[in-house]
Amino acid sequence: MTFVLTKNCEVQNMPQLEVARKHGAYASLEKLFARQPKDIIEEVKTSGLRGRGGAGFPTGMKWSFVPQNTGKPIYLVVNADESEPGTFKDRFLLERDPHLLIEGIIAASYAIGSHTAYVYFRGEFYRQWELFEKACAEARAAGLIGKNILGKGYDLEIYAHRGAGAYICGEETALLSSLEGGRGYPRIKPPFPAIEGLFACPTIVNNVETICAVPYIVREGGAGYRKFGTEKSSGTKLFSVCGHVKKPGVYEVPLGTPFKSFFKDYCGGTNGRPLKAVIVGGSSVPVLTAEQVMTMTLDYEAAQIAGTLLGSGGMIIVDDSVCAVEALADLARFYAHESCGQCTPCREGTGWSKKILDRLEAGRGEDSDISLLLQLADNMGGKTICTFADALAMPIRSWIKCFRTEFEDHLRLKTCPMKIGTLNSIRSS
Ligand SMILES: Cc1cc2nc3c(=O)[nH]c(=O)nc-3n(C[C@H](O)[C@H](O)[C@H](O)COP(=O)(O)O)c2cc1C
Ligand code: SF4
Repeated sequence: MTFVLTKNCEVQNMPQLEVARKHGAYASLEKLFARQPKDIIEEVKTSGLRGRGGAGFPTGMKWSFVPQNTGKPIYLVVNADESEPGTFKDRFLLERDPHLLIEGIIAASYAIGSHTAYVYFRGEFYRQWELFEKACAEARAAGLIGKNILGKGYDLEIYAHRGAGAYICGEETALLSSLEGGRGYPRIKPPFPAIEGLFACPTIVNNVETICAVPYIVREGGAGYRKFGTEKSSGTKLFSVCGHVKKPGVYEVPLGTPFKSFFKDYCGGTNGRPLKAVIVGGSSVPVLTAEQVMTMTLDYEAAQIAGTLLGSGGMIIVDDSVCAVEALADLARFYAHESCGQCTPCREGTGWSKKILDRLEAGRGEDSDISLLLQLADNMGGKTICTFADALAMPIRSWIKCFRTEFEDHLRLKTCPMKIGTLNSIRSS
């Protein structure tokens, strides 16, 4: 089923302006320019749209923080860095409907009073960047970007920028440092980017999916958007589903959809083996057991009650062929590699977690390793410049909480129980 974002994603040649316009692209602009920027912000507030980059911050509220009349330019920056393992939903929108993103950028820029927008692409997104550049060139030639858009007296330029392939550059302040030409180091907040962002000017950073929801809100109104979802989690959300699943892919569902029916009806269930665990919101959120996830609905509040986060919506399905220690060790390797190294708890904590998990996995663990890992997680969480360190601390705590016996079995047997095929017999004894 398609709703707000993916309505035209199956249309052939949708990235071409002519095709896109036949399918309603840029139809929101008449309504947009007929209204004052502050009214558009109110409409987005009414819609209840929350940022789809991970944190779920209310978009309209963020836009209202931008100080007007400071004498400085205001920037919109679209975060297309998408590097979280398991997450590939922005890539889908960028490939299938780049004009939807451009339309959203025009609306968001107009609302916040910006005349310059940047889209920061993950370095590996060469194809998506190329498609976007072509779509921008066509839109520019048609008077949809540039001076005096559609004769409405509003100017906007859009620049596409490619990163160099660093996960940390998805963190908004690291992204801004990188966009300025510096090293992709996160900055301490406050000041928040809305007050002091790109080149020390007021800046709104929003995720691709967030911006792509805006044309619908302009067209149908905030109340129209609220037709989907729940009271506190309004609208629809993309989930990119991968792992041990029959039908991996990107799906758009109204928030509040029960996981159980989503998994069965959209994803077709697992590949035949029993479901062991699910990471619902990208590699950095706490893992849930099959039992926990089956009673949950896909919305921000239910995720919190279940003990996890909806995050980016990068869903990783794990069946019972996976060793919990190996899975967590894999995550630790990724985070140890990607830490920018500015903060000691993160630089050392991710590195040590990786070392401990490597030895546990290899059957060379020490008796104190499980408590040492938990101690490291406590020293990483909430003590650093950005939340990258939490992105490993949360998986460490949750994988150990959900599958502690597997960690203990590695210590006791001095190897992975799955390698000697004993895990099931140990479990049933
Ligand atoms: C380590 C780290 C990586 C992140 N990566 C991304 C990313 O790839 N894309 C994204 O939109 N947000 C990412 N975020 C969140 C951004 O910092 C920011 O909250 C988001 O772009 C804001 O947009 P939104 O309000 O539309 O969600 C990341 C955050 C952290 C801490
Ligand atoms: S938490 Fe990690 S990634 Fe974030 S600034 Fe500190 S060292 Fe860098």
